[in-house]
Amino acid sequence: MKLFLDTANVSQVAEITAWGVLDGVTTNPSLVLKEGKDSSTHSTSSGQAGSLQVFKKTVLEMCKLVPCVSAQVTATDSAGMIKQGLEYAAWHKHVVVKVPMTTEGLKAITFFASKKIKTNTTLVFSAAQAMLAAKAGATIISPFIGRLDDQGEDGMNLIAEIMEIWQQHGFTTEVLVASTRHPRHIVDAARLGAHICTIPYDVFKKLPNHGLTDSGLKKFQEDWKKVSGR
Ligand code: G3P
Repeated sequence: MKLFLDTANVSQVAEITAWGVLDGVTTNPSLVLKEGKDSSTHSTSSGQAGSLQVFKKTVLEMCKLVPCVSAQVTATDSAGMIKQGLEYAAWHKHVVVKVPMTTEGLKAITFFASKKIKTNTTLVFSAAQAMLAAKAGATIISPFIGRLDDQGEDGMNLIAEIMEIWQQHGFTTEVLVASTRHPRHIVDAARLGAHICTIPYDVFKKLPNHGLTDSGLKKFQEDWKKVSGR
């Protein structure tokens, strides 16, 4: 299973890339906004053109680090999505155009598939939506499991349903488990055979840790000091 980082922060991508385990990045407008609030570099550009330039710079820096970077269109009509997506796709071959799961989005996905431009369908909350996006030719679909959990549904059950349908019908669209909230989500997604998991930075940082690893290492180091002190 491929592991993606869900962020618009290049330093975070560089940090996890150095571990040798990162396969891609997903961004979205909310994550871009968060970085704009957190980073002084973003405040120097004003207006939509300036924001786009900052976003482009961020995406291009990420593209140097990982082979797959999802950049989300903000238009809601298919013509606007296509215009934005063509621009994003021309930035770098690692860019995947992220398109929302709407009927306008489906039209845009169909267009991008005909041009062999990779797409990631975002805001997928049902198996029916997943199937439609796959049939339209999406490269990736992103079911949001955490947001389903948040409203009392079982997000991982949606992944189980989608993977069952994929097995039955041989869809080749990759299933990216998004809106993950904790390490167990990543393990459960892997057990269900999902192709990709996108993980927030704070959750990614938890993945290498285990209390027994820490205490085990401490003991090894203490014992080695005793050996070398002999
Ligand atoms: O990349 C989109 C998705 O992962 C969003 O997650 O935490 O905003 O539900 P969240």
